[in-house]
Amino acid sequence: VQDPRIQKIASAIRVIPDFPKPGILFQDITTLLLDTKAFRDTIDLFVERYKDKGISVVAGIEARGFIFGPPIALAIGAKFVPMRKPNKLPGEVISEEYSLEYGTDIMEMHVGAVEAGERALVIDDLIATGGTLCAAIRLLERVGVHVFECACVIELPELKGSGPVGRQTTVCVLVNA
Ligand code: PRP
Repeated sequence: VQDPRIQKIASAIRVIPDFPKPGILFQDITTLLLDTKAFRDTIDLFVERYKDKGISVVAGIEARGFIFGPPIALAIGAKFVPMRKPNKLPGEVISEEYSLEYGTDIMEMHVGAVEAGERALVIDDLIATGGTLCAAIRLLERVGVHVFECACVIELPELKGSGPVGRQTTVCVLVNA
């Protein structure tokens, strides 16, 4: 049986056709943030799942992982580490290149933000191919961090199975778009 909070969360996400390009149905979580009950329930569902699991790091993926990650981190007593687009972090970084639908992108994390042996949770708003989450997992594993799980508010189901995440690392999703 699905948690009754999930339907309200799903309804609070606005879907905008043809953004940012024709043919794309954009999942807009800004309307979820306007609904204080649904936003709180979103955070609570993840906190209930991840509290008392020994997670010391919540890694949030730019940009919308920066919205959902910090309240989860505070509630479970973990630190928050931003996983950023290139040339945004001022300190020494490690970088990971990953594939997009067209071309590649780079994700960066500060050296020294995490230590080998820590347990991490990776947070983003949405998983499509899983390429972005995979890059975050690779970055963390390169420095000896164990990725306990990934969590996203939304999954685009038509792309399910096409990405490499979820085979070794569980991805917890609240809403299937
Ligand atoms: C979106 C989304 C995820 C990523 C998922 O980010 O927020 O980070 O795509 O796609 P994937 O599973 O196929 O890798 P976007 O590229 O829109 O960047 P933004 O968050 O900076 O707008």
